[in-house]
Amino acid sequence: MAAVAGTGVLGGLAAVWNRSHGQQLADRSEPWLELLDAEDLPLVERAARKGVLYGAATNHRALQGDPAFAARFLQECGVLVPEYELKWSKLRPDPETYHFGPADWLVEYAVAHGLEFRGHTLVWHSALPAWFHEVVTKDNAERILVEHIRTVVKRYAGAVHSWDVVNEAVLPGDSIPGGLRRSPWLDLLGREYIEIAFWTAAEADPNARLVYNEFELDYATRAEEAKRRAVLELLERLVSSGVPIHALGMQAHLRANRYRFDPEVLQAFLRDVANLGLEIYITEMDVRDHRLPTSIRERDAGVARTYWEYLSAVLEVPQVKAVLTWGLSDRYTWLRGNGHAVRSDGTPVRPLPLDDQLERKEAWGAIARAFDTADPR
Ligand code: G3I
Repeated sequence: MAAVAGTGVLGGLAAVWNRSHGQQLADRSEPWLELLDAEDLPLVERAARKGVLYGAATNHRALQGDPAFAARFLQECGVLVPEYELKWSKLRPDPETYHFGPADWLVEYAVAHGLEFRGHTLVWHSALPAWFHEVVTKDNAERILVEHIRTVVKRYAGAVHSWDVVNEAVLPGDSIPGGLRRSPWLDLLGREYIEIAFWTAAEADPNARLVYNEFELDYATRAEEAKRRAVLELLERLVSSGVPIHALGMQAHLRANRYRFDPEVLQAFLRDVANLGLEIYITEMDVRDHRLPTSIRERDAGVARTYWEYLSAVLEVPQVKAVLTWGLSDRYTWLRGNGHAVRSDGTPVRPLPLDDQLERKEAWGAIARAFDTADPR
């Protein structure tokens, strides 16, 4: 487990944070601002004392090549999920080869540092290698899928807290029965590809929790309400047919000042999921600030408010057992690059708890306060 912060590095960071923000924030009253003077217990500890796991996505390059980042990751996080290293496009350079090096390094790193490890992801319509569409047919698809899952899951059996077995299989806009997303797997195997994936993963590692992971389930919009209904229908189908599934992963890629957020709508959905006997993990949380002003102070406040309103709402549901941010520091957010939308003012987005200098932002305070005020699980 990550070291509990003393008055050393983190104490100094908190003092810097206090000085730089103290004057500007005197006239504000958000609940996380009290943290300016509170002890600087890291997120992993604040979450753990309420029975919640906190961690983040990262990659082997950042952990290997950036010791200052790695040190902050170990201080703040209790779970590691690889951003890329377990996806087909990285793992399977050709039909006969598994490139396990980077993923092995991350699993060994997690075990060596007492971190839980999340596997992401076994079946997805995206990040498929170039050879996939040339090689995989209706005749060999099941064999290739089963072999991939069996090979990968068995390799790490016993070291994985949970697997995102199937990722983003629902998209009502595709107008397919059950609100399923059109995907190569659906085209090749029909909707049973989902059951095949879960049964194969359960056989390969009976101890790992098996998760269905989805995004855009958060806001009170018609599209996201339709998606919540379709996800619930899928989960009901899986649970009622005895498929080994243990949790819903809510990615929670949030957007400040973009859509209407209704905590009661979200909580009702989460309770419906929990009533199926499933846990809920917030798996990829971050907050886009594209619609917030250029001023860093205003932007950080708006991002923090978004974290606060979402997390304090979801943590009222006792089956929410894990919260991961999709990255820990703005320095490595996926939202900078990969062709993702750039802010209209051209300034880099600031979606995560730590800034580019690895210092705590208001977002960190909002997440910390949400853990502090949550009921124990
Ligand atoms: O590693 C190669 C590098 O060798 C090469 O030079 C470079 C050329 O572009 O590509 C690098 O791989 C990139 C990889 O991230 C590692 O940085 C891929 O092109 C890029 O497509 C990949 O993007 C990832 C994306 O999923 C697609 O796999 C993002 O980092 C990652 O944050 C994002 O994460 C997804 C979740 O898995 C599912 N939920 C949504 C989330 C955000 O899209």
